[in-house]
Amino acid sequence: MKKNISIAFLIFFLLNLVVSCGKKDNRSTSSHEGLAVEMTSLEKIRLGESLFKGKGNCASCHLKDKKVIGPSVREIIEIYDKHEVSIVSFLKGEGEPVVDPSQFIIMQANLTITKKMSDLELESLEAYMRSL
Ligand code: HEC
Repeated sequence: MKKNISIAFLIFFLLNLVVSCGKKDNRSTSSHEGLAVEMTSLEKIRLGESLFKGKGNCASCHLKDKKVIGPSVREIIEIYDKHEVSIVSFLKGEGEPVVDPSQFIIMQANLTITKKMSDLELESLEAYMRSL
């Protein structure tokens, strides 16, 4: 009887080990890209907001609907949608300025920051701008 219990415990222990190893494997094989897909749009907006106000420093030149140093976020989104161009590409340094090309030199300096950001960060910035 005692032996049976020990065997039962041993089996239980082994099963647990197999299950927890499996979990660990899954986690380590999921790529950064995989995690990006798993992020909900709300999480992207939150990440975008922290980049826009923090590391990106975008908020010091772009307000929601009022032009300050840079055009308002609403104006940028409107013009980008009209031209059917991508904000992410522009921030990667792969696009031409379409909103206010005469002032591009002021914006251009910020592309050194955004070019270093991951696709996920850039998509999150755009998601936040679109949520405003
Ligand atoms: C020092 C002020 C300043 C900062 C900081 C700044 N911008 Fe700008 N931005 C501008 C100005 C001025 C323009 C207008 C020139 C232009 O259209 O390229 C502009 C234009 C843009 C445009 C439209 C570009 C186009 O096609 O014409 C986007 C998109 C943009 N900014 C996003 C951002 C994001 C995202 C950040 C933060 C990572 C940021 N900006 C930080 C000043 C700034």
